[in-house]
Amino acid sequence: MTVESEAPAEEPRTVTGAPREAAAARGVRVRDVRRVYSSRRGPVVALDGMSLEAQPQETVAVVGPSGCGKSTLLELICGLQRPDAGTVASEPAVYMPQRDLLLPWSTALDNAALPLLVRRLSRRQARERARPLFAELGLDGFEMAMPHELSGGMRQRVAFLRTLLAGKPVLALDEPFASLDALTRQQAQAWLDSALRREPRTVVLVTHDVEEAVVLADRVVVMSPRPGRAVAELRVELVRPRRRTDPAVVELRERALEALG
Ligand SMILES: Nc1ncnc2c1ncn2[C@@H]1O[C@H](COP(=O)(O)OP(=O)(O)OP(=O)(O)O)[C@@H](O)[C@H]1O
Ligand SMILES: [Mg+2]
Repeated sequence: MTVESEAPAEEPRTVTGAPREAAAARGVRVRDVRRVYSSRRGPVVALDGMSLEAQPQETVAVVGPSGCGKSTLLELICGLQRPDAGTVASEPAVYMPQRDLLLPWSTALDNAALPLLVRRLSRRQARERARPLFAELGLDGFEMAMPHELSGGMRQRVAFLRTLLAGKPVLALDEPFASLDALTRQQAQAWLDSALRREPRTVVLVTHDVEEAVVLADRVVVMSPRPGRAVAELRVELVRPRRRTDPAVVELRERALEALG
């Protein structure tokens, strides 16, 4: 598979809670971030003292309890929110949200190809680029299906293709495989793993599946309960592709689970 990157050059972006701007990062750099939501029940401190870095072409998995600010973190990285304090700097990043958010009036193929249209390819060219990827994710034959005709897991895979085709150097993936059944999830993980080896990107992968984190990531960052911050980090220095039954993978998974408490 090739997902070419011919997006118009975009400048790296730095967003600060403080008025003074830091230098833009390569990869992703989140420093000492605080993010507070206001709600009817009063302020909710989602993140406090959260720091995380991803070097260019590194895959960093983020695991943590529900509500600890993982989606908030990804939205900050993609510039969809601003921190209340601290600094977020990132190369251009695309967000794959937890829910698939496909356009209900477009076919699966046109949904996947949408970023190519945005990048001014003709509809025919965009479809030609996106079509071969369907088979690789087990979606062949469903190119012309409408989103409501697809299962949740299939929609998730179409959304995933759309994310890749955005051609950004940074992928912020929010539990991309959570709604897939176990077998399909393993296939999708293997596909992501080989796609990244062929065409490296910087990836921040939020997952609740510690095994997935160890199989796919160079580093696993464990977050505390809300307000979320990084409390542990495991480096995964194992050759790819990794097998989940490999004793080294099993051991790292156990250590990550311990850190999660
Ligand atoms: N728009 C919002 N307004 C108010 N509170 C919010 C908003 N978005 C998130 N929150 C709160 O901020 C906290 C962190 O939310 P976030 O969605 O980032 O957590 P998460 O780690 O992604 O959780 P999950 O694993 O369940 O997806 C939660 O307590 C949530 O209720
Ligand atoms: Mg979330």
